[in-house]
Amino acid sequence: MSEQQSQSSGDIDTVMVETRLFPPSPEFSQAARIKSLEEYQELYDTAAKDPEAFWAAEAREHLHWFEPFTQTLQWETPDAQWFLGGKTNASYNCLDAQIAAGRGDRTALLWEGEPGDSLKLTFNELHREVCRFANVLKRLGIVPGDVVSIYMPMTPELAIAMLACARVGAVHSVIFAGFSAEAIADRNNDAGVKLQITSDGLYRRGKVLPLKATVDEALAKSQTVEKCIVLRRAGNEVAMQEGRDLWWHDLIAQESDDCPATPLDSEAPLFILYTSGSTGTPKGIRHSTAGYNLFAKRTFQWVFDHQEDDIYWCTADCGWITGHSYVVYGPLSAGATILMYEGAPNYPAEDRFWEIIEKYKVSILYTAPTAIRAFIKWGDEHVDKHDLSSLRVLGSVGEGINPEAWMWYYNKIGGGRCPIVDTWWQTETGGIMMSPLPGAIATKPGSCTKPLPGVVPKIIGEDGQEVARGRGGMLCIDHPWPGMLRGIWGDPERFQEQYWSKVPGMYLTGDNARQDSDGYYWIMGRIDDVINVSGHRLSTIEVESALVSHPAVAEAAVVAKPDEIKGQAIAAFVTLRVAEPTEELRKELLMHVRKEIGALAQPDAIRFTNSLPKTRSGKIMRRLLRDIASGKAQTGDTSTLEDYSVLASLRGDEE
Ligand code: PRX
Repeated sequence: MSEQQSQSSGDIDTVMVETRLFPPSPEFSQAARIKSLEEYQELYDTAAKDPEAFWAAEAREHLHWFEPFTQTLQWETPDAQWFLGGKTNASYNCLDAQIAAGRGDRTALLWEGEPGDSLKLTFNELHREVCRFANVLKRLGIVPGDVVSIYMPMTPELAIAMLACARVGAVHSVIFAGFSAEAIADRNNDAGVKLQITSDGLYRRGKVLPLKATVDEALAKSQTVEKCIVLRRAGNEVAMQEGRDLWWHDLIAQESDDCPATPLDSEAPLFILYTSGSTGTPKGIRHSTAGYNLFAKRTFQWVFDHQEDDIYWCTADCGWITGHSYVVYGPLSAGATILMYEGAPNYPAEDRFWEIIEKYKVSILYTAPTAIRAFIKWGDEHVDKHDLSSLRVLGSVGEGINPEAWMWYYNKIGGGRCPIVDTWWQTETGGIMMSPLPGAIATKPGSCTKPLPGVVPKIIGEDGQEVARGRGGMLCIDHPWPGMLRGIWGDPERFQEQYWSKVPGMYLTGDNARQDSDGYYWIMGRIDDVINVSGHRLSTIEVESALVSHPAVAEAAVVAKPDEIKGQAIAAFVTLRVAEPTEELRKELLMHVRKEIGALAQPDAIRFTNSLPKTRSGKIMRRLLRDIASGKAQTGDTSTLEDYSVLASLRGDEE
């Protein structure tokens, strides 16, 4: 009998045992910022003993203050305020502070466009561009607290627009440039946006998508938007509405390079970022200036072991939190050289990422499991064409990474030499909460290992108590941290209800997790996705990882479907690497799961499909699969679905 069959109350059974351990090499550890487990533990314990003193010292040392703060934390669940009385500015921390530290002539931003054009900006140059655009914002009457909506491709101007907003105290709301006009209008109306920024078009796999046309449609329904600034990027024709639409290049032509950063209250909102809930309308997650900036900067330095000469590439789009915290605010305020890439990973060919890494000598790569699974499917030959020896740290974020995908990333991309940092966090947390520190913590494939200093995770069972070590339960965070969300824009009740009601006094993440005997944390998927088979509560990721460990499988998603006898049964949706979907293979996969993790976790049904429904940020949408598996009509919000045809074909198959 395995671990999972112990008497469970309402906590979650585990069926996966992963024993592989990958310590960092002694050379890596020696040169790292945090060099050993003991050093990590010491830092963690210091923070745990007196979190306020810890963060106060961090804030004093690592942010620039126009005026020092007088109170570190004011906390009354669910409202946290950090560094009260202080004044700072995130754009100042990213630019002016770097120039003051002697980095003016260092490269701040490397950019590669999808068609192959490129650009390099030093901190001095980026500062100049941000100042000019910040002056544009002021000239258009933007004042601190105004909300500016940004719907742009991954161009340098997207980062410039964000930093210019931050410079003048405007609150940006970046909307991923794949969303529909309807989605833009909903978000703009919810936030009362005053100014829209966009571009004529966007390159995607060699084609030009007409962004401005989508914005025109959205602005027809966005009552509060007064002006729209348009960047010329793709050269496609656009309709400019007299009195409303203005060209970026015309506006900056007349502006000066000088625009002192506005000193802002620590708690001034820096941005809103909309994230979809499984039900209801998207939530505008609100982040602060000082606390967020500090948390993004320090977690960046700790987790990626950033060193002065690193070339750092986070492949996320600025339309997501990862792009906010780990393309723009974290790395730039740490003086890092960032790389931005505009386009698709398979254009003009499947080796584009590896070509970029070789060309720019990227040393830190931060990407997502969905991309890693696609690379595996596309084949090793694309990787083999390139020299990836510049890499030294690899990161993963967004979903759990299946251990076999982890192993491929480790061996094929990292050459068995680069620590993998599997970073667990959320839009709401502002920055990374759990992750290995690459010089200090030995990794296990599929585990986000340990919490960062100042982060206090607790795993809570249905009875509201902490579960026993080894058992799965709801992942909560016990103490406020500077990067935490400050609320949902315009909806304090939903904020309280969603995150602070179920487990009193703690932040409810909505994920399940367990801690293994070494104290390592394993994320077990979303609370809503748990499958209850004959009274055993199983996590999606463990069953999926067992399927993905079969050489024929590229991706897998499992969901619950109603079953008269077992209560729920497991339905699996599987995409294949190269093999043909046959009856034999189906049987083989069932046996494989049985062998890997036991009969209890064996799916009742396996459906082969060409692709899985995913959000635009690449997460598998299990909730839609659940409806399909149980033959129910689609309920809930589907606006974040990336490709509607996937859903249509899955539904069609079912009939
Ligand atoms: O379920 C977890 C999953 O993604 C959720 C947060 O999504 P989002 O707000 O879009 O932010 C994504 C970028 C931080 C989490 O609640 N998730 C994210 N990272 C991991 C993960 N699940 C497992 N392991 C991870 N490393």
